[in-house]
Amino acid sequence: MKQKHLLSLREYSRAEIEEIFDLARKLKARPGDYADALKRKSLAMIFQKPSTRTRVSFEVGMFQLGGQALYLGMDSIQIQRGETVADTARVLSRFVDGIMARVFAHQDVVDLARYGTVPVINGLSDQLHPCQALADFFTLLERRGKLDGAKLAYIGDGNNVCHALMLGAVKLGVLMSMACPAGYQPNPLILKSAIRDAQKERTPAPVVTTDPMEAAKGADVVYTDVWTSMGQETESAARVKAFQGFMVTPQMMAAAHKDAVFMHCLPAHRGEEVAAEVVDGPQSVIFDEAENRLHVQKALLILLLGGK
Ligand code: CP
Ligand code: NVA
Repeated sequence: MKQKHLLSLREYSRAEIEEIFDLARKLKARPGDYADALKRKSLAMIFQKPSTRTRVSFEVGMFQLGGQALYLGMDSIQIQRGETVADTARVLSRFVDGIMARVFAHQDVVDLARYGTVPVINGLSDQLHPCQALADFFTLLERRGKLDGAKLAYIGDGNNVCHALMLGAVKLGVLMSMACPAGYQPNPLILKSAIRDAQKERTPAPVVTTDPMEAAKGADVVYTDVWTSMGQETESAARVKAFQGFMVTPQMMAAAHKDAVFMHCLPAHRGEEVAAEVVDGPQSVIFDEAENRLHVQKALLILLLGGK
């Protein structure tokens, strides 16, 4: 793979994404075959925000590949006391073989890649969550056997997860139909770049509506995420009001394809963005998505950090 970093799926070709999926499939089937793939390699993990899945999947993933991961929370590194992201990138590059970072400002992952000399993986920024999108499309591929021609209905906030799914969908031939309330629609610049990529790739262009039932109609996946993302806590009350009618309900699932799955990146709030009957129901694949974070990221780590 010619990519050095994973900041956004925008830079990735369909073939490169498929290379990750092919390796992830092998890693999932025969994890023991890769026990030394990243022997003695180290991954620094910067977390400006909390995490359950991202931290544990990267940390366990590095261990399973024979390497190690270092958890660098904000209270334990000098960024908190004013050391620049650029200097942090330069210093960490002298010690470790890769950096994974979960940040508030997307520019921070861009700067880590710019000033460091080792691969940088975006473990969620205010704009994007590419590792999540990779795990989700891999999960859909496992279920459906192919991605081309699938319809993904995203209901809710036009946020980092929504953007990452959109940028991946146009590469993979998935029609992304988003239903978001006015004022909470996806970033117009990201939407525009996804539409441009769809034209280039000759894949369906993403569409945005304010009607969740319209988005859900005939969908193969109904996807949602929290209404209030990390860092937006002060907006929570206004958001709950704005998102009324956007909870994923059994009625919405009934509008989708009969074999449709329900997806959520997690953590989920039952009775808010999704009804408990849906997230805990038979169509829900939320824990497969979570597990697949591990397999997909191990593949990514091998491809970027230069194992076998
Ligand atoms: N989906 C996801 O990234 O979860 P965490 O915030 O727990 O890492
Ligand atoms: N949109 C959510 C995703 C959490 C994994 C957030 O940024 O908080």
